[in-house]
Amino acid sequence: MTFAPMPAELATERFVLTHEELDDAAWLAELFTARGGGTVTEADAQTRIAAMHELTSAHGIGAYVLRPRDGSPPVGYAAIVIGRGSVAEPELAYELLPDAHGRGYATEAATAVLEAAFATGRRRIWSTIRPWNAASLRVLEKLGGFDHVRTTSDERGEVLWFARDAPAG
Ligand SMILES: CC(C)(COP(=O)(O)OP(=O)(O)OC[C@H]1O[C@@H](n2cnc3c(N)ncnc32)[C@H](O)[C@@H]1OP(=O)(O)O)[C@@H](O)C(=O)NCCC(=O)NCCS
Repeated sequence: MTFAPMPAELATERFVLTHEELDDAAWLAELFTARGGGTVTEADAQTRIAAMHELTSAHGIGAYVLRPRDGSPPVGYAAIVIGRGSVAEPELAYELLPDAHGRGYATEAATAVLEAAFATGRRRIWSTIRPWNAASLRVLEKLGGFDHVRTTSDERGEVLWFARDAPAG
């Protein structure tokens, strides 16, 4: 099955969402480091950006940077990636710089990204979240339409799997 590529640009009330660029490496390194798994360098971030570009050229999905319309610096990304899913049933992901949390940004961006993902012809989008991640679970709840399908475990604990099916018609 083939799917249409997602658009190069999406628009929301407060953001223009475009793909990652190599210039995004500095703040992305900061964001990846904020996860707490060790320092991620700018060079590491560039490698991840290049991998995201390959995903976009191969399958038409990938990461969108939240670029504020007021010209201030990027605050994070929302993405459709393979993750724990597949090309046909990929995964929604979102991650913001710590200073940008709590203003509805993730929900706003993910709404647009999700709609664009279904517009490619895909019928199901996944989201996998650790049970302790209350903010991420709340974003999913606000997006609506995601059902808890199963729970799995790995070396870091439980993973909750949610799926949302494409709107009928
Ligand atoms: C998850 C994340 C992207 C949310 O971004 P955000 O822009 O703050 O999200 P929103 O503002 O759209 O919504 C967050 C909601 O979670 C709620 N929330 C935040 N922290 C919470 C907590 N500890 N307990 C319960 N609810 C919480 C907020 O109040 C808000 O809900 P509300 O609008 O009903 O008040 C952000 O916290 C983040 O980047 N976390 C680190 C990366 C991550 O975990 N990504 C997801 C991986 S699955």
